[in-house]
Amino acid sequence: MAIQKIKQNVFSIGAKDWDRRLFDELIPLPDGTTYNSYLVEGSDKTVLIDTVDPETLNVLFENLENYGISKIDYIIVNHAEQDHSGGIPAVLSKYPESKIVTNEKCKMILIDLLEIADDKFIVIKDEETLSLGDKTLQFFLTPWVHWPETMVTYLKKERILFSCDFLGSHYVSSDLFVKDEAKVYNSAKRYFAEIMMPFRKNIIRHLKKLESIEIDMIAPSHGQIYDNPKMILDAYKDWTSDNVKNEVVIPYVSMHGSTQRMVEYLVDALIKRGIKVKPFNLTVTDIGELAIELVDAATIVIASPTVLTGPHPSIAYAAFLANMLKPKAKFATVIGSYGWGGKMVEKLVGMLGNLKVELLPTVMVKGFPEKNDFQALDDLADNIQKKHKSINL
Ligand code: FEO
Repeated sequence: MAIQKIKQNVFSIGAKDWDRRLFDELIPLPDGTTYNSYLVEGSDKTVLIDTVDPETLNVLFENLENYGISKIDYIIVNHAEQDHSGGIPAVLSKYPESKIVTNEKCKMILIDLLEIADDKFIVIKDEETLSLGDKTLQFFLTPWVHWPETMVTYLKKERILFSCDFLGSHYVSSDLFVKDEAKVYNSAKRYFAEIMMPFRKNIIRHLKKLESIEIDMIAPSHGQIYDNPKMILDAYKDWTSDNVKNEVVIPYVSMHGSTQRMVEYLVDALIKRGIKVKPFNLTVTDIGELAIELVDAATIVIASPTVLTGPHPSIAYAAFLANMLKPKAKFATVIGSYGWGGKMVEKLVGMLGNLKVELLPTVMVKGFPEKNDFQALDDLADNIQKKHKSINL
C-alpha cells in the first residue's frame, strides 16, 4: 500500500490486507481489513502511531524507506494487541533510537507479549501531551475498548483522533477516506458487534469524555479514515445506548424439519404482528451477520432440536457467543423439538447468564409440530408483541 497523505506532514503508511477472511481465528472478515499505521512529522520530532501486523511489516518498512525516514523519535502505542504492536520489535531494531510512548498498563502488556526492554518506554498519563515541535499530541486513556490498556491519541491543531481499534471497521478500500458511508456503517457495526459490544458501558463513558475535544477526522487502525466523524460517533451512541428495536433474532438449526417448521411459523406470526424478524439457519450463517442483528434486537429466540439430551452443538456455539457478546436484548426464550426427552431448555438457559433478559415461556414440541403447538407459537408471538409494547416499541 502506498503512502497516503492525510494532512500536511501526516500520512497513512500501514498495510491493506485484501485477502484476510478470519480474525483471531474467530471473526469472519468478508471485506478484508487494514492495519493502519500513521506517520506524523513535527518540526522537532517524528512519530509513528501504532505499527502493523507482523506479516505485513514489509509494507511498513517499504513506505518508511520510500519516504526517506531515517529516524523515528517515538512510537505511540495505543493498544498492545499484536495486529498493531507485533511490528514494534522490528521497528525498534531498525530505528534503535526510538522510544515507545504509551500508558503504564500497555507497557506491562508489551513487556509480557513482546519482551521489550523497560528502558525503551516513556510512560504517559491520561490527558498528558507530547510536543513534536510545531505539532502536539494528547493522549486519552480509554480502557476496555477492547483490552484494559487501550488509549487514543489526539493530534491537537489538526484535530485528528487516532483511535486504534476503537471506532474502526474491518474494511479495506483503496480510498483513504470513507466515501460509501452506508457500506462502512455496516462494516463498523459488524466490528462493533463482534469486538466492542461487551464493553458498551465503558464506551459510553469514553464517548462522553471525547466530547471535550474538537474532532475533524477519526483515523482508526482498521478501516478507512472518517472525515465526517459525526457518522461513526452517532452510530456508536446509538449502538451503545440501552435502546432496543422492535426486532426478534432467531438463531436456529433443524435436523429433520420439526424445528424448521416451528421457526417458519413463528417468523410469519411475528411478521403479522408488525415485528421485524431475522432467522439465522446456523448451518449457512456468517456468524458476523448474526452478531450485527444482536446489536439492536429486543428479543432473542433460540431454536434447536434436542441432540443427546442437549441443544445442537451449533446452537450451543451461538448461545455461548451471544452470552459472551452481551447484547442489550430485553427478552429471550427457547423453542425446539425432541424425540423422547432431554434437558435442552435448561442447558441453553444455563448458558445465557450474562444476558440481562426476561425469559419468556418456552415452546417445546415432541416430534413434528401440531395444531396445539402452532397455537403455542402464536401465544409466544402475542407475548413478544405485548412485551415490546411494554417498552414502547
Ligand atoms: Fe486490532 Fe485489538 O486489535
